[in-house]
Amino acid sequence: MSVAVAYANIALIKYWGKADRVRNLPAVPSLSLTLAGLRTRTEAQLIPGEEDTVTLDGRPAQGRPHARVVALLDQLRARAGSDAHLAVTSHNEFPTAAGLASSASGFAALALAASHALGLSLTRQELSAVARQASASAARSIFGGWAELLTSSEHASPIAPAAHLDVRMLVAVTRRGEKAIGSTEAMLHTAETSPYYDAWVASAGAMFARGKSALLARDLKELGRAMEHSTLAMHASMLAADPGVLYFAPESLAVMHAVRELRGRGFSAYFTLDAGPHVKVLCPSSEAPAIAAELRALPAVLELLEAAPGDAAELIEAP
Ligand code: PMV
Repeated sequence: MSVAVAYANIALIKYWGKADRVRNLPAVPSLSLTLAGLRTRTEAQLIPGEEDTVTLDGRPAQGRPHARVVALLDQLRARAGSDAHLAVTSHNEFPTAAGLASSASGFAALALAASHALGLSLTRQELSAVARQASASAARSIFGGWAELLTSSEHASPIAPAAHLDVRMLVAVTRRGEKAIGSTEAMLHTAETSPYYDAWVASAGAMFARGKSALLARDLKELGRAMEHSTLAMHASMLAADPGVLYFAPESLAVMHAVRELRGRGFSAYFTLDAGPHVKVLCPSSEAPAIAAELRALPAVLELLEAAPGDAAELIEAP
């Protein structure tokens, strides 16, 4: 049995939109931070028979989740020249059942465990390209620390190690168990119906350049501002779709306003939101305890997780 772990990543400069739907290539460049603690553990084992079996968080996967795993396994079988089938068991060890995005860590861990089980020894770049075809954000979770996924490349690349900036990402869980519209569907809908989609794509390169140079200069204020700008511009593109895609809950807005108020009081706190209602807050680690205490006191916050920059995906058991 091959066992791999990978960690969730949060985009600071957002990916939203596909340049090539079949190959799943992003329309815009993105920049992310991989987070310690938010871990997926995936086992892959060769089995006799004509079908793959997929168990996600203790339950047999069906429908689209099952098909996405099999599609990734098909990519690897084609590379390995194999028609072997696998049993895949994946577990999200996130300290919450709040529905935080697990596709990034999940497909990164799957690419690593399953490629190994099939006898392949892929480079990180190759693993990242395989994971990207399942979920573009997963390409970034192959790497630790700060990573980028460009539009001109099949794979993500590391920009800086985890220790480059001493920060924390606070994850404010605002709702439980709601099933939002999936990111793929929402992106395609935005591209097809939003008059702001083209403007989003046209401005994404400058936002990425701003975020990346702020990161390289270790300028957290500028990086935080670039992150909020990218976040709100991405959501603006989907709000203008028809019908609009609305991931903000009232609680999300309450946390966003609270973050701006904390900034007014001198804290360096910046928010981002993805395809869901939870708010992630970037801050220096020295301010994290005080900011976490402020956020925990909000009625809008059900649970608050504190994550440090995390490591790359890793094989922890190999046959
Ligand atoms: O890769 P997907 O399909 O999980 O899409 C990720 C989209 C966002 O999380 C909203 C942004 C990002 O860059 O991670």
